[in-house]
Amino acid sequence: MNILVLGSGGREHAIAWALYKSPKCEKLYVASGNGGTAGFAENVSGLNAEDGAAVLEFAQAHDVELVVIGPEAPLVAGVADVLREAGIPVFGPDAQGAQLEGSKTFCKEFMMRNNLPTAEYLSTDDEAAAHAYIDEKGAPIVVKADGLAAGKGVVVAQTADEAHEAVAECFKGAFGEAGNTVVIEECLTGPECSMLAFVSAGKAYCMAPSQDHKRAYDGDEGPNTGGMGAYSPVPIVTDDELARMEEVMAQAAAATAKEFDHDYRGVLYGGFMLTPKGPKLLEYNARFGDPETQVVLPRLESDLVDVMLAVAEGRPDDISLTWADKWAVTVVLASQGYPKAYEKGKVITGIDAADALDDVKVYHAGTAMRDGELVTAGGRVLNVTAMGPTFQEARELAYKACDLIQFEGKQNRTDIGLRAINGRSSWE
Ligand code: AMP
Ligand code: GLY
Repeated sequence: MNILVLGSGGREHAIAWALYKSPKCEKLYVASGNGGTAGFAENVSGLNAEDGAAVLEFAQAHDVELVVIGPEAPLVAGVADVLREAGIPVFGPDAQGAQLEGSKTFCKEFMMRNNLPTAEYLSTDDEAAAHAYIDEKGAPIVVKADGLAAGKGVVVAQTADEAHEAVAECFKGAFGEAGNTVVIEECLTGPECSMLAFVSAGKAYCMAPSQDHKRAYDGDEGPNTGGMGAYSPVPIVTDDELARMEEVMAQAAAATAKEFDHDYRGVLYGGFMLTPKGPKLLEYNARFGDPETQVVLPRLESDLVDVMLAVAEGRPDDISLTWADKWAVTVVLASQGYPKAYEKGKVITGIDAADALDDVKVYHAGTAMRDGELVTAGGRVLNVTAMGPTFQEARELAYKACDLIQFEGKQNRTDIGLRAINGRSSWE
């Protein structure tokens, strides 16, 4: 079967690689792809992934029988709706379902209506009401732009002044229209845990839990990023917490079937905080996590084409997931300066040597080919994933592989997974 994946990051490399390994995958297209996907799939340039009509035209012209949408923007733009209407199976929710990620207010209201555990909040488009709520509740408190802000629209304010400033920034247009409404939320504490589920026709099939590292520098210091590393499963999660997260995901999947006009068919990503009062939802995303995908999919032993097609065609009872009994750790190699300004075009060496190690896979994020050489082309450049029989072995192998890869300005955290090894107390 011919398959089209939309997106160009490490997540899409990991998705495309897992699809490519299926005997059912004949021709694989990735739009726009990166230096990694170019090695085994056909990268499609010049196709705007957020333009439903253009994606449909490409899919029809190339006999594509499954479209997999990686990032949130095409989902929110309704690309899945256009494809589905034309009868092409698509992995990814329609625009209404994607609002769970596209609007934090929509998401919070969905959670409240369905009794899903989450932080107390106020959503408002009235700046004075926002400031008054901060005065009433005090700090610490969390201020979020309502709409998509590329991961930058959240401020965890330690003081009321900081919160007031964040509100003012939002209403001044720092996030464009995404900040016309703000969500102000109780500050929760505890380790974070990502629980991704395949959702189709009201049923949820949870993947293994994973944990991201959002801050740029060691010790969880520095600015927030798209994610600097991840691991799966998560050793500090208790059985009770795991069962509760699975229950919440199942409840949410059932609610999508009850409330939405069409089936939700894709990944529902629950971003949880493991609070002293149990797991609570920080957010839902309507897609796979990046870099969580790079530690979750390598552990999936089931055929991803079968799974995604069953999701896309609304056949949840045909989904079965088996996982390798291994730990996975991924370390992000970033460009110097990321998440602020950085240079591109640095020559990358050593990927083949790293990839040649058993149980290591290097996923590309921001890379491109230039005059026959692989060069950096983004802030997050590579994701180095290693698997092992123990967490420690997977972690050591990932760092050993990272050391083999060189490019000017290479920047990475050296403590991915360390807190998990040190145990729950390191979050207290
Ligand atoms: P979000 O984009 O909603 O995932 O938020 C980004 C990050 O902000 C999360 O990964 C958390 O680290 C933090 N965060 C979001 N909401 C809260 C909250 N209610 N309490 C504490 N931290 C939060
Ligand atoms: N790793 C966080 C995200 O994908 O949203």
